Amino acid sequence: MDLRVKLSLKVKIFLSVGLFYLAAVGTLTYLTIRSQRNLLLEQMAERAKAGISLMELSVTGALYKLDIFRLETIAREAKALPDVDYAYIFDNNGRIVGDYHEDQNQLFLTFTDELGKRILKSNEILVNIGDKKDILDISKPVNLGHQRLGGIRLGFDLNPILEEIRTVTFKAVGIATAIFLLGLGFIFIITARMTKPLEKLTVAAKRIEEGDLQYRVAIDRDDEIGSLAKAFDQMAERLMQREKELKESQNTLRRADRLSSLGLLTAGLAHEIRNPLVAIRTFTQLLPERYEDAEFREGFQGLALKEVDRICGLINDLLSFARPSRPNVAEENMNDIVDGIARILETEAKEKSVEITRDFTPTLPKIWVDKEQLKQVFMNLILNAIQAMKEGGSIFISTRITSRNEHSDQFVQVEIRDTGIGISPENLEHIFDPFFTNKDEGSGLGLSISHQIVQEHGGYVTVESKVGVGTTFFINLPTGKPIRQLGNGRAHANEANLSH
Ligand SMILES: Nc1ncnc2c1ncn2[C@@H]1O[C@H](COP(=O)(O)OP(=O)(O)OP(=O)(O)O)[C@@H](O)[C@H]1O
Ligand SMILES: [Mg+2]
Repeated sequence: MDLRVKLSLKVKIFLSVGLFYLAAVGTLTYLTIRSQRNLLLEQMAERAKAGISLMELSVTGALYKLDIFRLETIAREAKALPDVDYAYIFDNNGRIVGDYHEDQNQLFLTFTDELGKRILKSNEILVNIGDKKDILDISKPVNLGHQRLGGIRLGFDLNPILEEIRTVTFKAVGIATAIFLLGLGFIFIITARMTKPLEKLTVAAKRIEEGDLQYRVAIDRDDEIGSLAKAFDQMAERLMQREKELKESQNTLRRADRLSSLGLLTAGLAHEIRNPLVAIRTFTQLLPERYEDAEFREGFQGLALKEVDRICGLINDLLSFARPSRPNVAEENMNDIVDGIARILETEAKEKSVEITRDFTPTLPKIWVDKEQLKQVFMNLILNAIQAMKEGGSIFISTRITSRNEHSDQFVQVEIRDTGIGISPENLEHIFDPFFTNKDEGSGLGLSISHQIVQEHGGYVTVESKVGVGTTFFINLPTGKPIRQLGNGRAHANEANLSH
């Protein structure tokens, strides 16, 4: 299991600066406390040294004479010094000759503790802190000229000092915590201020990536972040400009593709229009002669109406196809769109001995599409199918509801199957490339534009083909409402799926 947590830049900066700050405040506090402690202990040692030196003055004579009474008095007098716990005066043999101690009388005994043994041997002042718990032990040899007479050993109670050190420590930790929390607050504010523009940039990058090219960061700052934001906005502006240009050239290509499809149709259509007109003309010529013939009149009226309606319908279909498409998404019935295009192409098909068969699912739900754009798709696909059959054949158009797999969304599928020459596997990889064509008169734009249109609708195209047998195109369009208005130049997430 991956336990790595994704931390935002803000949290990372905050944590690293915060930790560094904690280490700095912690170290400073520790050093302050330690130096305060040492200072207090040094002061205590100085006081002890002053005290022992004072005693030495009165001890020297008494020790020289070994005046035990006097020495005992001096030792007891040491009690007057602040915080004294014990006081010993010892002679040159290490015998205690004057003592003051709270608990026991040790007169004429010798020191049995390790420190005591060291003191007896030492020729200088010895200060010892903490060897015996909470006691500062100080000793000084007493000499007369070069003759060693003995020495003095005092013990000072450290508890008052330790209490003071505890108070200092407590205060220092309290102040340090307050400073740390205050600093942490500042770090938080500064980090937030520093990373906010970056967050804005991230949001902007995401919005642009999603296709919202109008989005701008708009950060007005004089530093590097400001320059970055400005560069970013300029980039978005240029991107929008390019997108617009691309869309315009796409539209030009689409218009050209429509016109070329129309060009292919005109010959057949002229024929389609002329035939009924000739019939109407003939009937009209005969009308004065056979005016009295009621059967003739009814027949003529029925035929003329039917043919004129048919021509009108055809011209309407053609006009709506020829009109430059303006993005206009609405709920449409796919059966109607496909049927309309098949109707326009029927003449062309008949001429090439191609039969168009329809098998539409009547319960197809309406879907959100740009009708004009989809007409162009089916025009291209059915024209391709007609052109793929040199000596006649059949085109089978069907519609149904489908889904990519059990859990995926539903799609409306239009299948266009022909019995034409088929496409070789090598060519199948390229048929959606712009300008790929195998035809003398072809521009190679039909499929690439169709593919683009379907993709913009959030749909996908699949193809199956066998050389000599025929080709089937499947156009799949999602049944949901499109998330974004179509025609903004960005395709939906679905990729064209080519299955051979
Ligand atoms: N139904 C089909 N049967 C066989 N080949 C096809 C079929 N549809 C497309 N193709 C092949 O794919 C190529 C590209 O098709 P596309 O519609 O993009 O361009 P075109 O038909 O050659 O030219 P245009 O459509 O611009 O007149 C065609 O030249 C043809 O070789
Ligand atoms: Mg084509």
